[in-house]
Amino acid sequence: MSYEFITTGREDGVGIVTLNRPKILNALNLQLIDELVTELERLDKDPDIRTILVTGNERAFAAGADINEMAEASAIDIMKRDQFAVWDRISLISKPIIGAVSGFALGGGCELMMNCDIVIASETAVFGQPEIKLGVMPGAGGTQRLVRAVGLRKAMEMLLTGDPISAKEALQYGLVNRVVPVEAYYQEALKLAKQIAKQPPLAVQVIKKAAHKADDLPLQEGMDYERNGFYLLLASEDRKEGMQAFLEKRRPRFTGN
Ligand code: CAA
Repeated sequence: MSYEFITTGREDGVGIVTLNRPKILNALNLQLIDELVTELERLDKDPDIRTILVTGNERAFAAGADINEMAEASAIDIMKRDQFAVWDRISLISKPIIGAVSGFALGGGCELMMNCDIVIASETAVFGQPEIKLGVMPGAGGTQRLVRAVGLRKAMEMLLTGDPISAKEALQYGLVNRVVPVEAYYQEALKLAKQIAKQPPLAVQVIKKAAHKADDLPLQEGMDYERNGFYLLLASEDRKEGMQAFLEKRRPRFTGN
């Protein structure tokens, strides 16, 4: 598959997707998002891939939707092409997505970061939803996911001022998992992605789905969902292997069956 605005790679079971429009800070035009989602779906189906790493470059993860493209579009254009529907497909990816984020993660870039399951940020990362400064508002989940991630008060401040927060503050509010020096963020995220790639893949996917249900379901329904997932995993080959390996005091060899 050849792409114009992303590059791809793979390492030890990790599919790597790098946003690649460095001159304009990885601004997310329609084609870039389309390429990204196409690649995420391709990796999701690839049996040799167990986790996915999404990254940008040191200066920018992504500085939001491409304002040049948006400035030309009418409300009807955007409605007709259902511009944000493609984003909904990211939440259907069943494998864990790890974000390696440095520099600007603004607008759609912050929304993309919030679609990652785990985020390793560099000390230079900044996060924000500046859409209000352009006379609009987030359109790819920013108001919903930010409130869930950092709580109503902090989200309200970020959404209404449009001002970014530092990586340190993002960590305090639980928006990212870890903050590390800029030289280390990519390797740290890759190491984590590789670690999770060694886990039993069925358990990884069922756990990811169950954890996301916590946002959507009342507690008892979420508990029922979890329990059914647990029963399902008891039927897997990897469960037999995992428990046998423990008893035999050896490393398990998980196959994804
Ligand atoms: N769209 C298009 N081009 C962008 C861009 C964007 N979102 N962000 C940056 N660029 C371009 C700049 O126009 C500039 O291009 P030129 O060199 O051709 O002039 C280049 O990237 C470098 O940017 P700056 O010179 O501005 O760099 P800076 O370091 O001075 O500032 C910045 C960096 C603070 C991120 C600033 O570029 C900025 O404010 N960008 C816009 C951020 C923004 O408003 N994002 C939200 C978009 S709306 C959205 O995302 C909606 C949604 O919910 C999906």
